[in-house]
Amino acid sequence: MKAPRWRKKILITAAAIALGIQFIPVPRDNPPIVKELVWDSPKTRSFAQRACFDCHSNQVRWPWYSHVAPVSWMISKDVRDAREMLNFSAITSDDDFDFVAKRINKAVMPPKKYLALHAEANLTDSEKTAFLAGLKKSFELSGL
Ligand code: HEC
Repeated sequence: MKAPRWRKKILITAAAIALGIQFIPVPRDNPPIVKELVWDSPKTRSFAQRACFDCHSNQVRWPWYSHVAPVSWMISKDVRDAREMLNFSAITSDDDFDFVAKRINKAVMPPKKYLALHAEANLTDSEKTAFLAGLKKSFELSGL
């Protein structure tokens, strides 16, 4: 049975839109590293790298789906918003351990939707405790 013409038209239009939006430029950068914390140990940094760097750093590993609109728009915006709040590659005097610790303690960060796709970012309770202790020391060593 032949599909009615209007249905074909809708399908073609939808396909054209899906293709067309791929050409809208999406910022997906990794600017130079300005200033990291003075890490108390490589381990603390590796926890941050596992759980936070994909949004809160200039060392984001952009996954393949970050190249496919409209998912790319959401990821790009998340990274921009996240960097504005806290950028582990551009630490400023405004950064504050207690502020960061609260998000980790309440399990707000890393976001659930991210953990669903990145099992390695899911820190166990003991890893979380070690991360928080190391992060506190690192903020102190950084004079923050
Ligand atoms: C998938 C991306 C992503 C990851 C991974 C992630 N964050 Fe975030 N984070 C965001 C976004 C987006 C915001 C800004 C919007 C918001 O507050 O939800 C944010 C906000 C924050 C804020 C500010 C919150 C506020 O209320 O002002 C802190 C602090 C923070 N994140 C810490 C962390 C820490 C620490 C980690 C690692 C344990 C982490 N985040 C992992 C995306 C992420």
